[in-house]
Amino acid sequence: MSDTLLTKREAGVLTLTFNRPEKKNAFTHAMYEAATAALQQAATDDEVRAVLLIGAGTVFTAGNDIGDFMEHPPAGEDSAVFLFLKALVDAPKPVLAAVDGPAVGIGTTMLLHCDYVIATERARFHMPFVQLGLCAEGASSLLLPRMAGYALASELLLFGEPFDAATALRAGIINKVVPDASLHEVATERARTLASRPAEAVRVTKELIRGPLREQTHATLAREGAKFIERLGSTEAQEAFMAFMSRGRK
Ligand code: COA
Repeated sequence: MSDTLLTKREAGVLTLTFNRPEKKNAFTHAMYEAATAALQQAATDDEVRAVLLIGAGTVFTAGNDIGDFMEHPPAGEDSAVFLFLKALVDAPKPVLAAVDGPAVGIGTTMLLHCDYVIATERARFHMPFVQLGLCAEGASSLLLPRMAGYALASELLLFGEPFDAATALRAGIINKVVPDASLHEVATERARTLASRPAEAVRVTKELIRGPLREQTHATLAREGAKFIERLGSTEAQEAFMAFMSRGRK
């Protein structure tokens, strides 16, 4: 499908691998577009019973490519990043994620929409939106307080400091922490198990869990998105991006 997003379908599981290891699997436009298309196709493909998100190498994803943000900032709700988030929110089949190493920005917030998340002991989560002069995204302002409680959600979003797998577990972002070497094995087993359950019962149950909040989630994506776009053009954000891009060149 794309070099930077690998797809593999096996035993009812569609595995989407973020594959840009030289840039820590940071998401470009092309990756969002490929991931959106894969999720939409999975929704209607009877052979796919579960989707597994994973990063190539020892990184989940460093989030949005910052250079891409500067050159092609998302301009509205039909931008690649928003369409990806919408496709994830609307995914009718279970989505699992296997996190190793850093999961930054949307790398953490996409997990809030997953149905089962496994992480390694060395996984590091990070929502550095405030430090970057941006604001909460991915419906994290709605979902994280519900999952983690206001105290922890506010701490993670306002301070924007990296946190470990134990904290992610406490925040309800992940289900399980596994030794680094067993991530693939455990994730494959869990995904295949879900794929082998009665498909319609799984679909209906996911809908019962996620359905009641879906409309509010979409409304939050839109509200956050408008603010995020505004923030992208701010001096605060531009200065933070320039600082990241010029690291190591001083
Ligand atoms: N956008 C663009 N490039 C990125 C990137 C991003 N989000 N994250 C990493 N990269 C690039 C680096 O610029 C570097 O490129 P170079 O080799 O051409 O200089 C390469 O990926 C390796 O990254 P590096 O920072 O050297 O790796 P690390 O192991 O020291 O740290 C991270 C990994 C993920 C902790 C760190 O790269 C990071 O914090 N990235 C920024 C994450 C971020 O702020 N995302 C946006 C959220 S909205």
